[in-house]
Amino acid sequence: MTELVTERLVLRRWREEDREPFAAMNADPEVMRYFPSPLSRGESDASYDRMVAAFDRDGFTFFAVDERAGSRFVGLVGIRTLGLDDPLYPAVEIGWRLISDVWRRGYATEAARRSIAFAWEVGLRELLGFTAALNQPSQRVFAKLGFARAAADDFDHPRIEPGHALQPHMAYRLANPGQADPPET
Ligand SMILES: CC(C)(COP(=O)(O)OP(=O)(O)OC[C@H]1O[C@@H](n2cnc3c(N)ncnc32)[C@H](O)[C@@H]1OP(=O)(O)O)[C@@H](O)C(=O)NCCC(=O)NCCS
Repeated sequence: MTELVTERLVLRRWREEDREPFAAMNADPEVMRYFPSPLSRGESDASYDRMVAAFDRDGFTFFAVDERAGSRFVGLVGIRTLGLDDPLYPAVEIGWRLISDVWRRGYATEAARRSIAFAWEVGLRELLGFTAALNQPSQRVFAKLGFARAAADDFDHPRIEPGHALQPHMAYRLANPGQADPPET
C-alpha cells in the first residue's frame, strides 16, 4: 500500500522519525484526557512498535497522519484489527487521535472517511468503533461518519478500574454498503 491522500492530509505507514512527535502527542494530558493517563515515552514507543508489527502482519493499522501543507505529523487515524485481549474482539476498529492544535478543523472526519473507503477497498464487511461515554468529540465524529450506535455492545472497559468515570464505553458499527447481506426471504 502506498499513501492515502485527502484534500488536506496524507495517511501513511509509520517511520522511525514519528516516534518523537507521537510520544509528545501521547504525553499531552489534554489529548489523553479520555484515557486512563498520558503515555510515558516507553509506553508510546511500545505502541509504535505494535503498530509497525500490525502493519507488517495485516497490511494496515492506524495510519500516521501528516498535513499535506508542510508535512507536519498531526496524529493517527485509521483501522486496526483488534487483539484477543481487546473488548469486542474479533473486529476491525476505527480510531483517531490528533495533536490538540489541529482539533475542530474536520481533520479526524476527513482522515476517517478515507480510512473507511480503504476498509471497503480491502474487502472488509464492517467496522466497529468505541469510545468513552464522556468523549463527546469522538462521539460527534462517529455521528458525522454515519456510524450507527450499537448499544447492545456497550461495555465497561476492562483495563479501567471499576467505578472510574472513564470506564463506560459506547460502541458503534458501520456496514460496508457494497457487501450488504441479502435480504432474508
Ligand atoms: C476526537 C478527535 C480525534 C477529533 O478530532 P477533530 O479533528 O477535532 O474532529 P473533527 O473536527 O472532524 O470533528 C470534531 C467534532 O466534535 C465536536 N466537538 C469538539 N469538541 C467538543 C466538545 N467538547 N463537546 C462536543 N462536541 C465537540 C466538534 O464541534 C466537531 O463536530 P462538528 O463538526 O459537528 O462541529 C480529537 O478531539 C482528539 O484527538 N481527541 C483526543 C484523543 C481522543 O479522544 N481520541 C478518541 C479516542 S476514542
